[in-house]
Amino acid sequence: VTTRAANQERSYVMVKPDGVQRGLVGKIISRFERKGFYLKGLKMFNCPEDIAKEHYKDLSSKPFFPDLVEYICSGPVICMIWEGKGVVKSARKLIGATNPLESEPGTIRGDFAVEVGRNVIHGSDSDENGEREIGIWFSSGEGTAEWTPHMEPWL
Ligand code: TYD
Repeated sequence: VTTRAANQERSYVMVKPDGVQRGLVGKIISRFERKGFYLKGLKMFNCPEDIAKEHYKDLSSKPFFPDLVEYICSGPVICMIWEGKGVVKSARKLIGATNPLESEPGTIRGDFAVEVGRNVIHGSDSDENGEREIGIWFSSGEGTAEWTPHMEPWL
């Protein structure tokens, strides 16, 4: 189990199987690093169905739910914890709208995807869901490490 540093906000971000298969992992990680967030958890994972269902449980009554679960479990995902000021909201902006045809150019989905059912990446939609999702995907603590970013004082 992993815990949040004092006063730090965390988001659960995941490169979905299409993003891994298309070789977009490095580009995606770079965007979060260059923005100024800190990587606090990282692992590659073949997602079992029960985890995908738990993660997306709020969508379980939607018609696309079975396809969504099948897609998330169709190949390895990259699970990440990103930490920093305002990271939940900012990650959603970096990621772009759910439907990639409506995502702005410059966002990850806007730049790399066209299908809502193959939209490359997930990011938590609230602080509460961030902590919930980190609990689901990093329940063993494997893939996490404690470290403190070196912050230069700005004069
Ligand atoms: P949702 O939580 O609404 O979007 P987001 O990922 O932007 O937070 O939906 C979860 C995923 O479900 C979404 O990334 C892609 C898939 N999905 C569909 O396949 N069809 C749909 O019509 C919607 C709304 C979502």
